[in-house]
Amino acid sequence: MNLDLTDKRVLITGASRGIGLAIAEGFLREGARVAILARSAGPLLETAERLAAQHGQNRVLALPCDCSDADAWPGILNRLQTAWDGLDIAIANVGDGRSVPDAMPDADRFAQTWRSNFATAEQTARATLPLLEESQGCLLFVSSIAGLEAIGAPTDYSVAKTALVALSKQLARKLAPRVRVNCLAPGNVYFPGGSWDAKIRSDAGRVDALIEATVPMRRFGTPEEMADAAVFLCSARASFITGACLVVDGGQTVSLF
Ligand SMILES: NC(=O)c1ccc[n+]([C@@H]2O[C@H](COP(=O)([O-])OP(=O)(O)OC[C@H]3O[C@@H](n4cnc5c(N)ncnc54)[C@H](OP(=O)(O)O)[C@@H]3O)[C@@H](O)[C@H]2O)c1
Repeated sequence: MNLDLTDKRVLITGASRGIGLAIAEGFLREGARVAILARSAGPLLETAERLAAQHGQNRVLALPCDCSDADAWPGILNRLQTAWDGLDIAIANVGDGRSVPDAMPDADRFAQTWRSNFATAEQTARATLPLLEESQGCLLFVSSIAGLEAIGAPTDYSVAKTALVALSKQLARKLAPRVRVNCLAPGNVYFPGGSWDAKIRSDAGRVDALIEATVPMRRFGTPEEMADAAVFLCSARASFITGACLVVDGGQTVSLF
């Protein structure tokens, strides 16, 4: 399948590791150029150097920033304009499921979770949409199945992820036909150093039992499986798909719609 992504200009937030990194690698394999964002400059630059060595020096930009900080975005957009003269695809991937089991997390915790899961994506969309309108491009939010069903994830995380699905649908309808906007809803994704790796280290038996009981495919998803779905949704082969939320969860969700 020709995804028609050669030389496309792609920005991915939270791409120094995990799902965001796999998405960056997926686009690079299709011949696109990527700008990867994360807060910690050291790991981000290391990742960018490795990707550039594999895929070409002029195909990877590393832009350290906190995506929830509105003041950081003008500098990011300047760098994109100078390097690429625009942008075709933006992926708002940053998120963090760490929280507390309390039914109602305290206000500080709630605000922090909202900031890392919703404000980061809101700012990414706000900043990049003018460029995406110009290029008739597309925007993808990385939500979670925790935003679609009450699966026992932290309340604040689930609420923020639900809000992303709502934002995506609103933008898709209001920006069509100029910009396509979609959502990806991963299930449980394992990679070394990721959130599930930490849970396995603390109680492997509990995690095994959970996966066995709740995931019909009886395993974790991989970052590469999330990346394949993300790359497809942003490609020309998905040109009539907008306002969709693609679930990639090994069958874990149970609702019919
Ligand atoms: N892993 C799963 O099982 C799973 C399941 C469902 C949904 N998801 C969603 O998928 C997305 C990626 O998950 P992941 O597990 O790959 O996450 P991760 O391993 O925690 O990686 C997060 C990435 O985002 C960066 N980041 C965090 N906060 C940032 C900020 N404010 N500004 C810029 N960069 C920031 C991190 O680097 P720095 O720390 O250096 O900033 C890192 O590159 C998240 O939205 C998550 O909610 C994950």
